[in-house]
Amino acid sequence: MTAIALIRNIEEQYNESIFEEHPLYLQTYLLASSLFAALEAIKSEAHLLNADETKELRSRLRTLYLGQQERIHQAALTARLATYVVAWLTGEHLKERFTDLDKMFVQRAAPLSPEQKHSYLEPVFDPTLFPKEFQWGAGTCEYQLSGAENCSHNQWVEWEAPERQTGTATDHWNRSIEDVQLLKALNINSYRFSVEWSEIEPSPGAYNQEAIAHYQSLCKELKANGITPCVTLHHFTHPLWFEELGAFEKEENIAHIVRFTEKMYDALGEDVEMWFTINEPNVYASQGYHSGFIGSFPPKGSYRYQMMFEVYANLLRAHDQMYDAIKAKAGDRSTKVGIVHQMLEFEAERSWDFGPVVQKYMNWIFMSDAFMHFARTGEFKAYVPGLVDVSYTSERPRGDFIGINYYTKPLIKVGCGNPDHMWAHSEEGEVYTDMNFRTHPEGLYQWLRELHSLGLPLVITENGIADASDDRRGFFIQQQLYAIQQAMKEGVNLGGYFHWSAFDNAEWEHGLGTKRFGLYAVDFETKERSLREGARAYMNAIEIWKEQIESTAEPKKD
Ligand code: BGC
Repeated sequence: MTAIALIRNIEEQYNESIFEEHPLYLQTYLLASSLFAALEAIKSEAHLLNADETKELRSRLRTLYLGQQERIHQAALTARLATYVVAWLTGEHLKERFTDLDKMFVQRAAPLSPEQKHSYLEPVFDPTLFPKEFQWGAGTCEYQLSGAENCSHNQWVEWEAPERQTGTATDHWNRSIEDVQLLKALNINSYRFSVEWSEIEPSPGAYNQEAIAHYQSLCKELKANGITPCVTLHHFTHPLWFEELGAFEKEENIAHIVRFTEKMYDALGEDVEMWFTINEPNVYASQGYHSGFIGSFPPKGSYRYQMMFEVYANLLRAHDQMYDAIKAKAGDRSTKVGIVHQMLEFEAERSWDFGPVVQKYMNWIFMSDAFMHFARTGEFKAYVPGLVDVSYTSERPRGDFIGINYYTKPLIKVGCGNPDHMWAHSEEGEVYTDMNFRTHPEGLYQWLRELHSLGLPLVITENGIADASDDRRGFFIQQQLYAIQQAMKEGVNLGGYFHWSAFDNAEWEHGLGTKRFGLYAVDFETKERSLREGARAYMNAIEIWKEQIESTAEPKKD
């Protein structure tokens, strides 16, 4: 039984020596949260215990508590103080926003009423809320689909050397034309894909015409099949030579991606009306420069805080310049350009422990507040005395829309003796993905409402589930569409939804095969694709929407 095991564990573990060997506050904090967890376990296992057993366990807990009372109080006080310090450190100008966030999210009293909450459990699709121009899409990234063998000149290949474990992945590079038929079968009208810069420009200024022609054919094929091509210019990978120049660590390197952008516009501009400049600057910067704790992307710089924010600022600079480059070339065309942000925000389960500290820290690292501030004002600022001092002010915010990737809103409950337990604790009834994310559709609804205040159209550029057993995908899709629908009902200007991903693919640091996001399952040996049952929830919703649009369309005049 959990309660007995926890109590025994605490009794055995928490002797004086543990406080001498380890940082006092960490141990004290872990002790406090373990005691709390044990108390909760006694409550939830009450039906398994008789009155005497419950009494005995409670009294053992009390003895433990009294023995360490002073330390526990000290830890609680420190946690409170630390919350304020972190709030202060993570930026004076964000104070106001923190207050908002506290109001909106931090309070665990979820803002949804029981009826609303219940409605997420039985989501009903309402096609009338989605306008006829709505983009129903799916998304992919070339490197994830085609692997190191097909995209052999980028920094990820170097990173995964010498095994090249992604191989040819789905081999989309050689099957993209056939894959268009599979996309069409999904009922979608838009496809988001990335162009692999390292294949197009394997050395500076030298372009591979074949690779360019490859994407030109793909765009034509998509259009011929009624699917709008939407292009991501930078999706985590770039040429090795660019990495060796220092990539986004140096402002002067931005000129290279701007030149690449112009080249791509010249090649594809006729067919592509929607461009995504940079995919998830916040994930790229934090995963690459905050290793040890969360970072697991190249170049994997250990806790390079200053660099992490410099890279982020340079990615924003790059976005601005790429935006201008496309707009200058597009002239009167109705070309739309935007950046893609991963809306990742952490939520602390309890207000009285270290959860809020970690929450604020993680939110700061993933920069959703900073992004919102930038999108609103054009100002990016990160300042921590003695640690980080980075700022960038763009003369005006650029973007015809904001691309949002939403997967989860992790719940943090620090403690129970194991730092790993910081992640993803379940709430009753919540569904978890194979990434160990909770699927939290309410968070998407909340974010859409919040982002609407920026005054730009929104597009969900990624939203999906790693679900190898395909037993959660269908319900996940229904719930997320429901969340969107609730936001649209309240006036949120959302132009499209791109499900991630059309096909199973290589999931960055997790490699090939373990995280299956595809609407189509892919056998990486035979390259065979097969539709997942769960995908039908998406296809059906689009079908219903199409029927509804057709039935309300004005009859054609002869
Ligand atoms: C990335 C995708 C990735 C997905 C799922 C996003 O951060 O843009 O490339 O596969 O998350 O983890």
